[in-house]
Amino acid sequence: MSSATDNHIHENNHHNGSRIAKKPKLSSSVITASEIETEFGHHDTSVARINNGSFGCCPAFIIAAQHRWQLRYLRQPDHFYFNDLKTGILQSRTLIKDLVNADHVDEISIVDNATTAAAIVLQHTAWNFREGRFQKGDVVLMLHYAYGAVKKSMEAYVTRAGGNVVEVPLPFPVNSNDEIVSEFRKALERGKSNGNRVRLAVIDHVTSMPCVVIPVKELIQICREEGVDQVFVDAAHSIGCTDVDMKEIGADFYTSNLHKWFFCPPSIAFLYTRRNPKGSGSDLHHPVVSHEYGNGLAVESAWIGTRDYSAQLVVPAAMEFVNRFEGGIEGIKKRNHEAVVEMGEMLAKAWGTRLGSPAHMCASMVMVGLPVCLGIGSDSDALELRTHLRDAFGVEVPLYYRPPREGEVGVITGYARISHQVYNKVDDYYKFRDAINQLVQNGFTCADLSG
Ligand SMILES: Cc1ncc(COP(=O)(O)O)c(C=O)c1O
Repeated sequence: MSSATDNHIHENNHHNGSRIAKKPKLSSSVITASEIETEFGHHDTSVARINNGSFGCCPAFIIAAQHRWQLRYLRQPDHFYFNDLKTGILQSRTLIKDLVNADHVDEISIVDNATTAAAIVLQHTAWNFREGRFQKGDVVLMLHYAYGAVKKSMEAYVTRAGGNVVEVPLPFPVNSNDEIVSEFRKALERGKSNGNRVRLAVIDHVTSMPCVVIPVKELIQICREEGVDQVFVDAAHSIGCTDVDMKEIGADFYTSNLHKWFFCPPSIAFLYTRRNPKGSGSDLHHPVVSHEYGNGLAVESAWIGTRDYSAQLVVPAAMEFVNRFEGGIEGIKKRNHEAVVEMGEMLAKAWGTRLGSPAHMCASMVMVGLPVCLGIGSDSDALELRTHLRDAFGVEVPLYYRPPREGEVGVITGYARISHQVYNKVDDYYKFRDAINQLVQNGFTCADLSG
C-alpha cells in the first residue's frame, strides 16, 4: 500500500530492533512508516479518515504519557496537586511560549479549547460594554465564516451587552488574499460609519468551513492603521498546520488548539494575551471562577476545580513525538500541506471540478469541489451525503454546501474538506474518489437520501 508521506519518511532499517520495545520510547532516528502505523494502530481501519481537521489525532506515545499523568494523580492526589500540577502546566506553557515566539510565559494560558478561549475574550468585551468603557452600538467585527460556536458566543456576550456585530462577507471559492483584504476593508468602513468605534476584530487564522488560510498579519496591520482597539485571532487549527509567530502576527489575543494538529489528546488549547508595554497583565478572566480568581489568567486557567488536567501536561511528550519526524513540526506541516494539495488536485481532476482556493491559501486542509450532478442543494443535503459516505463507503469527510449566487447556473454547490496528517495514505483519498465516482456512475443524487 502506498503512502502519501512515503517519500518523506526515512526507513531506518538498522534500527528495526528498537521497535520491539514495549513502551514507545524516543529514539534519535527518524520515525519510520511502520512506527507511524503502530502509533495510530488504534484508528478504525475500516474508515478512510481524511478529516483530521475536526478532532485531530493522538498517537500511542502521547496516550501513554497521558495515562502516566492520570495514574500519578490517582495514586496520590494531594501530592499531585501540591507538587506536580503547577510545575507541569508551567512546563507546558513554557514550551508553547517558545513554540509560538511569545515574549513571556505569562502571555500563555492553557485552556480546554478554542471555544473556551473565545468565551474568555468575548466575556471581557461584554464587561467593557457593561462597565461603560465601550458605548452601546460600538462595533465588533468578525468574518462571515467565523466558527459557529464563536458566532454564538458573540451573540451571548457581545450582542447582549449592547455591541453591534458586523460581519465580513468572504468570497468562496476564493482566488487571492486581495479579495479577502478588500472585503475586510469594506466591512471595516461599514463598521466605522456614523462615527462608531470598532472595539474588537475577531479574525480566523484558518477558517473552519470552508477552510481558507486568512492573511491575518495583513488584516491586523489594517486594524492598527484604522484604529481598531483590539484583535482576537481564532486560530483553532493553527499550531502544526500553519505559521504561528506571536511577534510577527501581532494580535492582542490569539488561540490555537493543540489537539487538532499538534497530536495532543482532547483537549488543550493555548490563549495568548499580549502584555501591554507597561508589563501589566490583561484583565481577562476564566469564566469558571476558582479560588485562583485574580491571580492572572494563566494561573486562573491552571486550576478550574477538580478535573482531569492530563491533556494539558503532555505537551513535552507531544514535542518529543513531533521531533521524531524529519524537520519536527515544521517538517510535518510542510509535508502535510504538499500532500493535501496533491490529493486535492488528484480528486478535482478525477471529478472534473476544482479546488476552493489556490494552494497558497491552504494549510493541511483543502476544499475540493464535488461533481455538480450529485445535486447538493442545501446544508442538510451535504450532511446526509456525508453520513452516507461514512455508512456506505467508510469515508469520513466533512462536506460544505455553497449556495449558487444570483445568476449562477451549473456551479459547484458541494465541496469536501479533506485533511492530511502523518497517518494518512494515498489509498484513503482513492477510496473517497472511487466512492464519489460510483455514486455518479449510479446516477445518484442527494434527493435519493431525503425523506
Ligand atoms: C475556527 C474554529 N474556531 C473554533 C473551533 C472550536 O474548537 P474546539 O471545539 O476545540 O473548541 C473550531 C473547531 O473546529 C474552529 O475551526
